[in-house]
Amino acid sequence: MKILILGSGAREYSIALALIKNSEVELFFMPGNGATSKLGTNLSNFELEDLATYSKENGIDLCIVGSEDFLAKGVVDIFEKRGLKIFGPSKKAAQLESSKVFMKDFLSRNSIRTARFLSSSNLDEINSFIDTLNTPIVVKADGLCAGKGVIIAQSKEEALKVSADMLSGKSFGDSGKRVVIEEFLEGFELSAFALCDGENFVLLPLAQDHKKLKDNDEGPNTGGMGAYAPSPLASEKLITEIKEDIIKPTLNAMAKEGNEFKGVLFVGLMIVNSKPYVLEFNVRFGDPECEVLMPLIEDPLSLILACVNKNLKNYELKLKNKAAVAVVCASENYPYSQSVASEIQISSIPENSHIAYAGVSLKDEKLLASGGRVLACVALGNDVKEARDTAYKLCENVKFNGMQYRKDIAYQALR
Ligand code: AMP
Ligand code: GLY
Repeated sequence: MKILILGSGAREYSIALALIKNSEVELFFMPGNGATSKLGTNLSNFELEDLATYSKENGIDLCIVGSEDFLAKGVVDIFEKRGLKIFGPSKKAAQLESSKVFMKDFLSRNSIRTARFLSSSNLDEINSFIDTLNTPIVVKADGLCAGKGVIIAQSKEEALKVSADMLSGKSFGDSGKRVVIEEFLEGFELSAFALCDGENFVLLPLAQDHKKLKDNDEGPNTGGMGAYAPSPLASEKLITEIKEDIIKPTLNAMAKEGNEFKGVLFVGLMIVNSKPYVLEFNVRFGDPECEVLMPLIEDPLSLILACVNKNLKNYELKLKNKAAVAVVCASENYPYSQSVASEIQISSIPENSHIAYAGVSLKDEKLLASGGRVLACVALGNDVKEARDTAYKLCENVKFNGMQYRKDIAYQALR
Protein backbone atom coordinates (compact mmCIF):
# COMPACT_ATOMS: atom_id res chain seq x y z
CA MET A 1 0.00 0.00 0.00
CA LYS A 2 1.46 3.32 -1.12
CA ILE A 3 0.87 6.15 1.36
CA LEU A 4 1.71 9.80 0.84
CA ILE A 5 2.18 12.00 3.93
CA LEU A 6 2.00 15.79 3.57
CA GLY A 7 4.18 17.88 5.88
CA SER A 8 7.72 17.97 7.24
CA GLY A 9 7.60 17.89 11.03
CA ALA A 10 8.01 15.39 13.84
CA ARG A 11 4.22 14.93 13.58
CA GLU A 12 4.53 13.55 10.07
CA TYR A 13 7.61 11.53 11.04
CA SER A 14 5.65 9.94 13.92
CA ILE A 15 2.78 8.98 11.63
CA ALA A 16 5.31 7.46 9.23
CA LEU A 17 7.10 5.55 11.98
CA ALA A 18 3.81 4.05 13.16
CA LEU A 19 2.72 3.03 9.64
CA ILE A 20 6.04 1.62 8.45
CA LYS A 21 5.70 -1.17 11.05
CA ASN A 22 3.26 -2.66 8.55
CA SER A 23 5.52 -4.35 6.00
CA GLU A 24 3.09 -3.78 3.15
CA VAL A 25 3.33 0.00 3.48
CA GLU A 26 5.52 2.09 1.17
CA LEU A 27 5.84 5.74 2.15
CA PHE A 28 6.12 9.00 0.23
CA PHE A 29 6.45 12.48 1.71
CA MET A 30 5.94 16.00 0.49
CA PRO A 31 8.09 17.78 1.40
CA GLY A 32 9.33 15.53 4.26
CA ASN A 33 12.64 16.20 5.98
CA GLY A 34 16.18 14.81 6.10
CA ALA A 35 15.08 11.84 8.20
CA THR A 36 11.84 10.90 6.42
CA SER A 37 13.98 10.12 3.39
CA LYS A 38 15.16 7.07 5.35
CA LEU A 39 11.58 5.87 5.83
CA GLY A 40 10.44 6.44 2.27
CA THR A 41 10.73 8.81 -0.70
CA ASN A 42 10.69 12.59 -0.34
CA LEU A 43 8.91 14.14 -3.35
CA SER A 44 9.87 17.53 -4.71
CA ASN A 45 7.42 20.34 -4.11
CA PHE A 46 4.45 19.91 -6.47
CA GLU A 47 1.52 22.25 -6.89
CA LEU A 48 -1.51 20.43 -5.45
CA GLU A 49 -3.11 19.66 -8.85
CA ASP A 50 0.22 18.24 -10.03
CA LEU A 51 0.54 16.25 -6.82
CA ALA A 52 -2.87 14.68 -7.52
CA THR A 53 -1.69 13.80 -11.05
CA TYR A 54 1.50 12.28 -9.63
CA SER A 55 -0.55 10.30 -7.10
CA LYS A 56 -2.86 8.96 -9.81
CA GLU A 57 0.00 8.00 -12.11
CA ASN A 58 2.03 6.36 -9.34
CA GLY A 59 -0.78 4.45 -7.66
CA ILE A 60 -0.83 6.27 -4.32
CA ASP A 61 -3.53 4.45 -2.32
CA LEU A 62 -3.93 6.94 0.53
CA CYS A 63 -2.84 10.47 1.35
CA ILE A 64 -2.57 11.61 4.98
CA VAL A 65 -2.44 15.35 5.52
CA GLY A 66 -0.25 16.42 8.42
CA SER A 67 -0.18 20.18 8.20
CA GLU A 68 -3.04 22.68 8.01
CA ASP A 69 -1.70 24.72 5.10
CA PHE A 70 -2.50 21.94 2.63
CA LEU A 71 -6.02 21.62 4.05
CA ALA A 72 -6.71 25.35 3.89
CA LYS A 73 -5.61 25.26 0.23
CA GLY A 74 -8.17 22.54 -0.52
CA VAL A 75 -5.96 19.49 -1.06
CA VAL A 76 -8.80 17.19 0.04
CA ASP A 77 -11.23 18.64 -2.52
CA ILE A 78 -8.61 18.34 -5.26
CA PHE A 79 -7.74 14.71 -4.42
CA GLU A 80 -11.34 13.57 -3.96
CA LYS A 81 -12.38 15.11 -7.29
CA ARG A 82 -9.74 12.89 -8.90
CA GLY A 83 -11.02 9.80 -7.08
CA LEU A 84 -8.03 9.62 -4.69
CA LYS A 85 -8.35 8.56 -1.04
CA ILE A 86 -7.29 11.24 1.41
CA PHE A 87 -7.52 11.66 5.19
CA GLY A 88 -8.54 15.20 6.14
CA PRO A 89 -11.42 17.70 5.92
CA SER A 90 -12.52 19.67 2.84
CA LYS A 91 -11.44 23.27 2.43
CA LYS A 92 -14.83 24.49 3.67
CA ALA A 93 -14.73 22.24 6.75
CA ALA A 94 -11.11 23.26 7.39
CA GLN A 95 -12.39 26.78 8.12
CA LEU A 96 -12.86 25.54 11.68
CA GLU A 97 -9.11 26.17 11.88
CA SER A 98 -8.38 28.60 9.06
CA SER A 99 -10.91 31.22 10.25
CA LYS A 100 -11.34 32.08 13.92
CA VAL A 101 -14.41 34.14 12.99
CA PHE A 102 -16.01 31.13 11.26
CA MET A 103 -15.12 28.93 14.25
CA LYS A 104 -16.47 31.30 16.93
CA ASP A 105 -19.67 32.06 14.99
CA PHE A 106 -20.15 28.31 14.48
CA LEU A 107 -19.77 27.62 18.22
CA SER A 108 -22.09 30.45 19.14
CA ARG A 109 -24.95 29.51 16.80
CA ASN A 110 -24.69 25.88 17.94
CA SER A 111 -24.54 26.73 21.66
CA ILE A 112 -21.17 25.02 22.22
CA ARG A 113 -19.32 26.38 25.24
CA THR A 114 -16.57 28.91 24.43
CA ALA A 115 -15.25 32.23 25.77
CA ARG A 116 -17.62 35.22 25.37
CA PHE A 117 -16.51 37.09 22.25
CA LEU A 118 -17.10 39.58 19.47
CA SER A 119 -15.96 39.05 15.88
CA SER A 120 -15.67 42.29 13.97
CA SER A 121 -13.65 44.51 11.67
CA ASN A 122 -15.08 47.73 13.10
CA LEU A 123 -12.90 49.50 15.65
CA ASP A 124 -15.76 51.43 17.32
CA GLU A 125 -17.70 48.21 17.83
CA ILE A 126 -14.54 46.54 19.18
CA ASN A 127 -13.92 49.45 21.56
CA SER A 128 -17.43 49.17 23.01
CA PHE A 129 -17.05 45.41 23.50
CA ILE A 130 -13.64 45.78 25.15
CA ASP A 131 -15.32 48.09 27.67
CA THR A 132 -17.54 45.20 28.80
CA LEU A 133 -14.56 42.89 29.56
CA ASN A 134 -12.17 42.53 32.47
CA THR A 135 -8.43 42.38 31.77
CA PRO A 136 -6.49 40.56 30.46
CA ILE A 137 -8.26 40.52 27.09
CA VAL A 138 -7.59 38.07 24.27
CA VAL A 139 -7.29 39.39 20.70
CA LYS A 140 -7.13 36.92 17.81
CA ALA A 141 -6.46 37.50 14.13
CA ASP A 142 -9.03 35.71 11.97
CA GLY A 143 -6.74 33.79 9.63
CA LEU A 144 -3.82 31.34 9.89
CA CYS A 145 -0.78 33.06 11.46
CA ALA A 146 1.50 30.08 12.20
CA GLY A 147 0.49 30.12 15.87
CA LYS A 148 1.34 33.80 16.38
CA GLY A 149 -2.09 35.37 15.86
CA VAL A 150 -3.27 35.29 19.48
CA ILE A 151 -2.33 38.20 21.76
CA ILE A 152 -3.16 38.36 25.47
CA ALA A 153 -3.48 42.11 26.13
CA GLN A 154 -2.91 43.24 29.71
CA SER A 155 -4.94 46.47 29.43
CA LYS A 156 -7.95 47.74 27.47
CA GLU A 157 -5.69 50.26 25.69
CA GLU A 158 -3.34 47.49 24.59
CA ALA A 159 -6.28 45.36 23.39
CA LEU A 160 -7.53 48.26 21.27
CA LYS A 161 -4.07 49.01 19.86
CA VAL A 162 -3.45 45.32 19.02
CA SER A 163 -6.87 45.19 17.30
CA ALA A 164 -6.12 48.36 15.30
CA ASP A 165 -2.74 47.00 14.19
CA MET A 166 -4.32 43.74 13.09
CA LEU A 167 -7.16 45.46 11.19
CA SER A 168 -4.77 47.79 9.36
CA GLY A 169 -2.94 44.73 8.01
CA LYS A 170 0.24 45.83 9.84
CA SER A 171 0.53 42.76 12.08
CA PHE A 172 -0.67 39.82 10.00
CA GLY A 173 -1.62 41.11 6.54
CA ASP A 174 -4.98 39.83 5.30
CA SER A 175 -5.17 37.27 8.15
CA GLY A 176 -5.89 40.17 10.55
CA LYS A 177 -8.53 41.96 8.49
CA ARG A 178 -11.14 40.60 10.89
CA VAL A 179 -10.49 39.93 14.57
CA VAL A 180 -12.02 38.05 17.46
CA ILE A 181 -11.96 39.76 20.87
CA GLU A 182 -12.70 37.46 23.77
CA GLU A 183 -12.73 37.15 27.52
CA PHE A 184 -9.70 35.59 29.16
CA LEU A 185 -10.40 32.14 30.60
CA GLU A 186 -8.52 30.95 33.64
CA GLY A 187 -7.97 27.22 34.02
CA PHE A 188 -5.82 24.45 32.56
CA GLU A 189 -5.51 23.42 28.91
CA LEU A 190 -6.03 20.00 27.36
CA SER A 191 -5.83 18.80 23.76
CA ALA A 192 -8.58 16.44 22.57
CA PHE A 193 -8.28 14.56 19.27
CA ALA A 194 -11.34 13.05 17.65
CA LEU A 195 -10.81 11.02 14.50
CA CYS A 196 -13.93 11.46 12.40
CA ASP A 197 -15.55 9.83 9.38
CA GLY A 198 -18.14 12.57 8.80
CA GLU A 199 -20.70 11.08 11.15
CA ASN A 200 -18.96 9.04 13.84
CA PHE A 201 -15.76 9.60 15.80
CA VAL A 202 -13.30 7.98 18.18
CA LEU A 203 -11.65 10.06 20.87
CA LEU A 204 -7.95 9.45 21.54
CA PRO A 205 -6.46 9.79 25.05
CA LEU A 206 -6.38 13.43 26.16
CA ALA A 207 -2.98 15.05 25.84
CA GLN A 208 -1.28 18.14 27.21
CA ASP A 209 1.00 20.39 25.20
CA HIS A 210 3.60 22.84 26.61
CA LYS A 211 3.42 25.98 24.48
CA LYS A 212 5.95 28.18 26.31
CA LEU A 213 9.65 27.93 25.52
CA LYS A 214 10.91 27.77 29.10
CA ASP A 215 10.33 25.75 32.26
CA ASN A 216 7.43 26.84 34.53
CA ASP A 217 5.59 28.01 31.39
CA GLU A 218 7.76 31.08 31.01
CA GLY A 219 9.14 32.75 27.90
CA PRO A 220 7.58 33.19 24.47
CA ASN A 221 4.95 30.97 22.85
CA THR A 222 6.22 28.23 20.56
CA GLY A 223 4.68 25.56 18.36
CA GLY A 224 4.91 23.28 21.42
CA MET A 225 7.93 22.13 23.47
CA GLY A 226 6.64 18.79 24.69
CA ALA A 227 3.56 16.70 25.34
CA TYR A 228 2.28 13.74 27.25
CA ALA A 229 -0.76 11.46 27.21
CA PRO A 230 -2.99 10.28 28.69
CA SER A 231 -3.51 13.19 31.08
CA PRO A 232 -4.62 12.24 34.60
CA LEU A 233 -6.36 15.64 34.67
CA ALA A 234 -9.01 14.20 32.35
CA SER A 235 -11.65 12.56 34.55
CA GLU A 236 -14.24 10.17 33.09
CA LYS A 237 -16.87 12.86 33.64
CA LEU A 238 -14.83 15.45 31.76
CA ILE A 239 -14.21 13.03 28.87
CA THR A 240 -17.95 12.34 28.63
CA GLU A 241 -18.70 16.09 28.57
CA ILE A 242 -16.10 16.68 25.87
CA LYS A 243 -17.71 13.96 23.73
CA GLU A 244 -21.37 14.83 24.39
CA ASP A 245 -21.24 18.64 24.68
CA ILE A 246 -18.51 19.46 22.17
CA ILE A 247 -17.51 16.78 19.65
CA LYS A 248 -20.91 15.23 18.91
CA PRO A 249 -22.72 18.56 18.43
CA THR A 250 -19.81 19.86 16.33
CA LEU A 251 -19.92 16.88 13.94
CA ASN A 252 -23.72 16.97 13.75
CA ALA A 253 -23.85 20.71 13.10
CA MET A 254 -21.04 20.60 10.53
CA ALA A 255 -22.93 17.86 8.63
CA LYS A 256 -26.23 19.75 8.90
CA GLU A 257 -24.58 22.91 7.58
CA GLY A 258 -23.21 21.03 4.57
CA ASN A 259 -19.61 20.79 5.82
CA GLU A 260 -19.37 17.12 6.75
CA PHE A 261 -16.18 16.75 8.82
CA LYS A 262 -13.73 13.96 8.02
CA GLY A 263 -10.24 13.77 9.49
CA VAL A 264 -8.76 14.87 12.79
CA LEU A 265 -10.79 17.30 14.89
CA PHE A 266 -8.31 18.72 17.38
CA VAL A 267 -10.09 20.62 20.13
CA GLY A 268 -7.95 23.02 22.16
CA LEU A 269 -9.75 23.13 25.50
CA MET A 270 -9.57 25.31 28.59
CA ILE A 271 -11.00 23.56 31.63
CA VAL A 272 -12.59 26.21 33.84
CA ASN A 273 -14.13 25.05 37.14
CA SER A 274 -14.21 21.47 35.78
CA LYS A 275 -16.11 22.54 32.61
CA PRO A 276 -14.57 22.26 29.12
CA TYR A 277 -14.53 25.44 26.94
CA VAL A 278 -13.41 25.40 23.30
CA LEU A 279 -10.42 27.72 22.85
CA GLU A 280 -9.80 26.67 19.28
CA PHE A 281 -10.33 23.97 16.71
CA ASN A 282 -7.56 22.61 14.55
CA VAL A 283 -8.28 20.20 11.76
CA ARG A 284 -5.17 18.01 11.91
CA PHE A 285 -2.99 16.32 14.51
CA GLY A 286 -1.17 18.56 16.97
CA ASP A 287 2.60 18.73 17.01
CA PRO A 288 4.02 17.52 19.49
CA GLU A 289 0.79 15.78 20.59
CA CYS A 290 0.92 13.43 17.60
CA GLU A 291 4.32 12.20 18.73
CA VAL A 292 2.78 10.82 21.94
CA LEU A 293 -0.52 9.62 20.48
CA MET A 294 0.76 7.61 17.52
CA PRO A 295 2.77 5.13 19.65
CA LEU A 296 -0.24 4.60 21.96
CA ILE A 297 -2.56 3.40 19.18
CA GLU A 298 -2.37 -0.32 18.38
CA ASP A 299 -2.98 -0.09 14.64
CA PRO A 300 -3.20 3.54 13.48
CA LEU A 301 -3.50 2.58 9.81
CA SER A 302 -6.71 0.63 10.39
CA LEU A 303 -8.11 3.61 12.31
CA ILE A 304 -7.29 6.08 9.54
CA LEU A 305 -8.71 3.71 6.92
CA ALA A 306 -11.92 3.33 8.94
CA CYS A 307 -12.27 7.14 8.87
CA VAL A 308 -11.54 7.45 5.15
CA ASN A 309 -13.86 4.53 4.31
CA LYS A 310 -16.64 5.92 6.55
CA ASN A 311 -16.64 2.81 8.65
CA LEU A 312 -15.90 4.08 12.16
CA LYS A 313 -19.24 2.81 13.41
CA ASN A 314 -17.85 -0.73 13.31
CA TYR A 315 -14.37 0.18 14.51
CA GLU A 316 -13.06 -0.64 17.95
CA LEU A 317 -10.14 1.52 19.09
CA LYS A 318 -7.33 -0.49 20.67
CA LEU A 319 -4.82 1.40 22.79
CA LYS A 320 -1.66 0.29 24.51
CA ASN A 321 -2.01 0.39 28.27
CA LYS A 322 0.94 2.81 28.50
CA ALA A 323 1.73 6.49 28.87
CA ALA A 324 3.87 8.48 26.43
CA VAL A 325 6.01 11.60 26.81
CA ALA A 326 7.69 13.69 24.11
CA VAL A 327 10.37 16.29 24.84
CA VAL A 328 11.10 18.67 21.97
CA CYS A 329 14.74 19.59 21.37
CA ALA A 330 14.94 22.91 19.53
CA SER A 331 17.76 24.85 17.95
CA GLU A 332 19.56 27.68 19.74
CA ASN A 333 17.61 30.64 18.35
CA TYR A 334 14.15 29.05 18.31
CA PRO A 335 11.53 30.55 18.17
CA TYR A 336 13.11 33.86 17.13
CA SER A 337 15.38 33.13 14.19
CA GLN A 338 17.21 30.43 12.28
CA SER A 339 20.33 28.79 13.73
CA VAL A 340 23.49 27.52 12.06
CA ALA A 341 23.16 23.88 10.99
CA SER A 342 25.16 21.40 13.07
CA GLU A 343 25.59 17.66 13.16
CA ILE A 344 23.36 15.61 15.45
CA GLN A 345 25.12 13.03 17.58
CA ILE A 346 23.27 10.24 19.31
CA SER A 347 25.17 7.96 21.68
CA SER A 348 22.42 5.40 22.32
CA ILE A 349 18.65 4.98 22.34
CA PRO A 350 17.19 3.58 25.58
CA GLU A 351 14.62 0.79 25.40
CA ASN A 352 11.02 1.98 24.86
CA SER A 353 12.14 5.27 23.33
CA HIS A 354 12.73 6.73 19.89
CA ILE A 355 13.43 10.00 18.14
CA ALA A 356 10.88 11.78 15.95
CA TYR A 357 12.72 14.08 13.57
CA ALA A 358 11.56 17.50 12.35
CA GLY A 359 14.03 20.32 11.51
CA VAL A 360 16.76 18.12 10.09
CA SER A 361 18.59 17.85 6.78
CA LEU A 362 20.80 15.14 5.34
CA LYS A 363 24.31 15.99 4.17
CA ASP A 364 26.84 13.33 3.14
CA GLU A 365 24.74 10.73 5.00
CA LYS A 366 25.00 12.85 8.18
CA LEU A 367 21.89 14.20 9.88
CA LEU A 368 22.13 17.93 10.61
CA ALA A 369 20.00 20.00 12.97
CA SER A 370 18.82 22.64 10.51
CA GLY A 371 16.67 24.81 12.77
CA GLY A 372 13.37 25.32 14.55
CA ARG A 373 12.08 22.35 16.48
CA VAL A 374 14.77 19.84 15.49
CA LEU A 375 13.49 16.58 16.98
CA ALA A 376 11.42 15.10 19.77
CA CYS A 377 12.65 12.48 22.24
CA VAL A 378 9.68 10.16 22.73
CA ALA A 379 9.28 7.39 25.30
CA LEU A 380 6.62 4.98 26.48
CA GLY A 381 6.28 3.82 30.08
CA ASN A 382 3.87 2.10 32.42
CA ASP A 383 2.95 5.54 33.72
CA VAL A 384 3.75 9.16 32.88
CA LYS A 385 6.67 9.29 35.30
CA GLU A 386 8.38 6.24 33.81
CA ALA A 387 7.84 7.56 30.27
CA ARG A 388 9.16 10.99 31.27
CA ASP A 389 12.29 9.55 32.90
CA THR A 390 13.10 7.51 29.79
CA ALA A 391 12.43 10.46 27.44
CA TYR A 392 14.91 12.58 29.45
CA LYS A 393 17.47 9.76 29.39
CA LEU A 394 17.23 9.87 25.61
CA CYS A 395 17.60 13.68 25.61
CA GLU A 396 20.89 13.30 27.47
CA ASN A 397 22.15 11.01 24.71
CA VAL A 398 21.41 13.53 21.95
CA LYS A 399 23.75 16.42 21.14
CA PHE A 400 23.84 19.24 18.61
CA ASN A 401 25.14 22.81 18.90
CA GLY A 402 22.82 25.11 20.83
CA MET A 403 20.28 22.36 21.63
CA GLN A 404 17.62 23.57 24.09
CA TYR A 405 14.77 21.70 25.76
CA ARG A 406 12.43 22.08 28.70
CA LYS A 407 13.25 20.04 31.79
CA ASP A 408 9.71 19.96 33.19
CA ILE A 409 7.57 18.28 30.53
CA ALA A 410 4.53 16.56 32.08
CA TYR A 411 4.88 18.47 35.35
CA GLN A 412 1.10 18.91 35.55
CA ALA A 413 0.68 15.13 35.66
CA LEU A 414 3.36 14.56 38.26
CA ARG A 415 2.96 17.20 40.93
P1 AMP B 1 -5.52 29.49 20.22
O1 AMP B 1 -4.67 29.50 18.99
O2 AMP B 1 -6.84 30.13 20.06
O3 AMP B 1 -5.59 28.16 20.91
O4 AMP B 1 -4.70 30.35 21.28
C1 AMP B 1 -3.34 30.06 21.59
C2 AMP B 1 -3.16 30.06 23.07
O5 AMP B 1 -3.60 31.30 23.63
C3 AMP B 1 -4.00 29.01 23.79
O6 AMP B 1 -3.36 27.76 23.78
C4 AMP B 1 -4.13 29.60 25.17
O7 AMP B 1 -2.95 29.37 25.92
C5 AMP B 1 -4.21 31.09 24.89
N1 AMP B 1 -5.62 31.51 24.81
C6 AMP B 1 -6.39 31.60 23.69
N2 AMP B 1 -7.63 32.02 23.97
C7 AMP B 1 -7.66 32.21 25.32
C8 AMP B 1 -8.67 32.64 26.24
N3 AMP B 1 -9.89 32.99 25.83
N4 AMP B 1 -8.34 32.69 27.54
C9 AMP B 1 -7.09 32.36 27.98
N5 AMP B 1 -6.11 31.97 27.16
C10 AMP B 1 -6.37 31.89 25.85
N1 GLY C 1 0.57 21.67 19.57
C1 GLY C 1 -0.30 22.64 19.05
C2 GLY C 1 -0.53 22.58 17.60
O1 GLY C 1 -0.12 21.67 16.92
O2 GLY C 1 -1.19 23.49 17.10
